[in-house]
Amino acid sequence: GLPERVTIYEVGPRDGLQNEKAIVPVADKAEFVVRLADAGLRTIETTSFVHPRWVPQLADAGELLDALSRSPHLRYPVLVPNERGLDRALDHGVAEIAVFASATESFARRNLNRTLDESLAMFAPVVERARAEGLWVRAYVSMVCGDPWEGDVPIEQVVSVATRMMDMGCSQLSLGDTIGVGTPGQVTALIEAMVAAGVGTGRLAVHFHDTYGQALANTLAALRAGVTTVDASAGGIGGCPYAESATGNLATEDLVWMLDGLGVETGVDLAKLAATSRWMAGRLGRPSPSRVVQALSPG
Ligand code: HMG
Ligand code: MG
Repeated sequence: GLPERVTIYEVGPRDGLQNEKAIVPVADKAEFVVRLADAGLRTIETTSFVHPRWVPQLADAGELLDALSRSPHLRYPVLVPNERGLDRALDHGVAEIAVFASATESFARRNLNRTLDESLAMFAPVVERARAEGLWVRAYVSMVCGDPWEGDVPIEQVVSVATRMMDMGCSQLSLGDTIGVGTPGQVTALIEAMVAAGVGTGRLAVHFHDTYGQALANTLAALRAGVTTVDASAGGIGGCPYAESATGNLATEDLVWMLDGLGVETGVDLAKLAATSRWMAGRLGRPSPSRVVQALSPG
């Protein structure tokens, strides 16, 4: 069966924009977040408190958060890699953070300048302190369906990193097919393995990329396996600067079109959302890669 309702975890302002070379003005980023919220998205990952040299586009993280008004109905999680990042996030009143591990050694080194073990050692005090401060903490695990340098990634390796993250005290785990190579059978097997390892579907989220056109099929497999939180990026923008061949995230519009058709509630107004993505595409200077945004475009 399928869930009655799906929670969309919108990553456009963070995962969508992080790879853009031309710096988007902070006022445009703030408008993007406000318009996404107005379209009905309730959880919007806004930015990252990473090293600004590593992701220059998000160097304005603090400024952006200061420009946003908070509401008890809106959640604005941010990426935090280390204690320095947590300090910065706390200075700007953040209530939800996400730490981000890799299932593979190669991507841990490229993305975090650490071995896999060192990266987990870096996250542990962040999670502990964040929880002590009353923050909600999500954990990402990237490269769960394959890695550009290592090829296939064994499910046991994904489960091992994921359970180590959850044992630190994270509340939610997002399984990231960062390069979009996964297929539905693999997704089903991975979720079953996570559940068998004690991380139930209520604590799981899925994060697909559409590189090979599998993102929606993978999402449907995850929903059938019991997952109810799905990551997506408005307009399908994004990619990871430290992962070769990572193209667009699953487009939020494509997801909403499918869920609307299935009668699964999301609370999102598709027309408003697509208009927002068209506006952002104009700012970025190229059309949205989302098929649904294109199909809904006037003219
Ligand atoms: P490092 O160079 O090893 O840093 O980078 P360090 O710990 O050696 O510190 C060096 C200097 O940086 C120090 O300053 C620190 O204070 C400063 P100094 O003492 O030399 O003056 N520093 C910071 N400054 C500001 N904010 C900070 C910070 N940390 C240290 N947070 C580090 C290590 C983890 C910082 C770096 O590798 C980094 O920022 N990496 C993040 C890269 C990134 O954001 N990648 C994209 C994430 S997307 C992803 O992972 C996939 C996902 O989207 C899921 C999917 O799509 O599948 C989640
Ligand atoms: Mg992504």
